[in-house]
Parts: sequence; C-alpha cells; structure tokens
Amino acid sequence: MISIEGLSKIFHLNQKKITAVDNLNLTIQDGEIFGVIGYSGAGKSTLIRLLNRLEEPTSGKITIGEKEITTLDKNKLRMARQNIGMIFQHFNLLWSRTVSENIAFPLEIAGVPAKERVQRVNELIELVGLSGRENAYPSQLSGGQKQRVGIARALANNPKVLLCDEATSALDPETTNSILDLLVDINERLGLTIILITHEMHVIRKICNRVAVMENGKVVEQGDVLDVFLKPKQPVTKKFVEQVMENQDGDLDQLLEEYTSGELVRLHFVGETANQALISKISREFTVEVNILSGKITQTKLGAYGTLVVQIIGEKNEVNQTIQFIKEETSVEVEVLVNA
Ligand SMILES: Nc1ncnc2c1ncn2[C@@H]1O[C@H](COP(=O)(O)OP(=O)(O)OP(=O)(O)O)[C@@H](O)[C@H]1O
Ligand SMILES: [Mg+2]
Repeated sequence: MISIEGLSKIFHLNQKKITAVDNLNLTIQDGEIFGVIGYSGAGKSTLIRLLNRLEEPTSGKITIGEKEITTLDKNKLRMARQNIGMIFQHFNLLWSRTVSENIAFPLEIAGVPAKERVQRVNELIELVGLSGRENAYPSQLSGGQKQRVGIARALANNPKVLLCDEATSALDPETTNSILDLLVDINERLGLTIILITHEMHVIRKICNRVAVMENGKVVEQGDVLDVFLKPKQPVTKKFVEQVMENQDGDLDQLLEEYTSGELVRLHFVGETANQALISKISREFTVEVNILSGKITQTKLGAYGTLVVQIIGEKNEVNQTIQFIKEETSVEVEVLVNA
C-alpha cells in the first residue's frame, strides 16, 4: 500500500509562493492501476515526483509498503528507488545508447553482473515487445517503441511500483492504446502497482481501477472509475467525463421527430452488463427486432457504462415482455421514450 498523508510542496519563485501540492491525502492499494487526472498546473507531476523524492516535500509523509520514503537518507533512498520505476512523456532515453544499452543502464547502476544483465535485458525486451530492435538507437524508433524502451528500463530492477507521468501524451491514439495494453499486461503479470498521471479521461477509463481528480494541488474527488464516471460531483470532474461522453444521444430530437414504428427506449448501462451480450440475448429469446439508433457505450475496466437508444419492433405483447425482461433480469435501466 502507498499512503500519502498531509503532503505539501511549496515552490518559491521570484518571491512568489506557489503551492503545487496542498495538504494532500491519498491511499493506493497494492496491484491497482490508480489514475490521477487534472488540468495543466494542477500539481500532478509534482505529486508523482514527490513519491520518489525527485522533489523534496515541504511537509507530509509518504509510505510505500513498509518504508517511510520521506525520512530515508540518501543511501536508503537510492535503494528504495529501485522499487519505484518511472516513465515520462518524452521518454528520457539516452540517445547515444542502443535499446539494449538503455535498458541495461539501471542494472549497471545497481551493480548487476554483466552476464545477468544480458539475460535480464533479453527478458525485458521480450516482455515489452521489442524483439529485433535490440541494437537500434532511440532516434531510429517510433514514439511507441521509445516508450516501450522507457517501460523496460523502468522495470529492469523489478520495481513494485511504476509511476507514469503523461506516458502516452506524446503518442497518437492507436499507439496510446498499445502502450496502455502493455501497462495492463505488466500490471497483471507482475502484480505491479501503477500510478498514472494524465489529462485525458479516456486513458483513465481504459485502464484504471480508481481515479483521483486534482485541482489546485488538492484531490477534489476520488473513487472507483465507474462511480466517478456515473456520478461525477465536482465541476472539474464533470468536464473530464464529458470528454469521453460527448454527443451521447446523437440527434435524439431529430430521431424523435421522425419516429414512426416500434417502441423507442433508452437503455442505461451501469457496469457489469455488456451491451453486445444483452442485445443478442434479446434477439434470441424474443420475437423482436432491435435496432440501435444512437448512443455511446464506454467500456471501463469494471464494465460497460453509457446509454443506447434502441428501437424495439415486434408484436406489442412481445415488445412489452422484452422491456419487462430487461427491467427485471438485468442491471440495465430502461427509459421508454416513445410508446408506439
Ligand atoms: N520547479 C518548480 N519551480 C517553481 N514552480 C513550479 C516548479 N514545478 C512546478 N511548479 C508549479 O507548480 C504548479 C504545479 O505544476 P505541475 O507541473 O505539478 O502541474 P501538472 O499538473 O503536472 O501540469 P501539466 O499537466 O501541465 O504537466 C504549477 O503552478 C507550476 O508552475
Ligand atoms: Mg505535469
């Protein structure tokens, strides 16, 4: 477990006081992927840099596992840092070293013998999917490949925690997805705790278990990702949720105007139920035709969430039974929009 208590960081810049992290409290469980989201200047990077003391706290206490990070002397801190890997938006690779040599670097620092180093580097290259690129230089790699090197290097000393500061912000959507998949893969395979900082809600949605929303150096809202998506409380959280839920109903007004046949219902998915499975189940068990007209389903780590507007066409009795079934047998909420 990682526990952060009363953590503050005050910068002094031209006689101005900047409170980047403000009396922040947070608990992160072992093995979870914990997201921290916030706009620019919220204090996210400062928070993550405080966790491995790349930044010295002004006050407060950080405990990772059994170790109180905040009181370690230089030597002990160096040891503790081997348990905390970190990856960055701009990769921070060594440009004059090959892929293998970049990954070997933290092993050299940790004093791992050459033979073991080679073996470990090979394992890591395999793990992050860079086989065949061992001898390439960073300048010869795509952004996604560079981040894979960053990840391999961060994992070299078998850390328990991986800190990711905007690790996908410099990547295109497709590459972002492949890196997020890799993070999930290593989280599951290695049981690694991942703390991930981003200003993109879709990143949180895709891989995080829990999320904290930061504003002005404070956590203003936190919870399970699904709960935060369903019931965002703070204005800043609502804005982030809107990022991924835009145009949820499409042109519903127009749909309603032009609507002629069948029953028009809106289905609210709230977690566990997968939309695909439900629609095919209905089509199998009832003599109705189901057409999805609009809507947006978002897949979070814990289940589908969102709404679909569907048209259910069939005999009145059959349609009613279908709706009854959804209401009673599933966790999907049904809202009848047009009762034809
Ligand atoms: N070394 C520093 N010296 C002075 N002020 C700093 C320093 N580092 C950060 N700050 C200030 O602290 C505040 C928080 O910055 P931080 O980089 O943590 O935000 P962030 O949430 O990571 O933003 P971004 O999304 O732009 O990366 C900002 O007002 C920033 O200007
Ligand atoms: Mg930052």
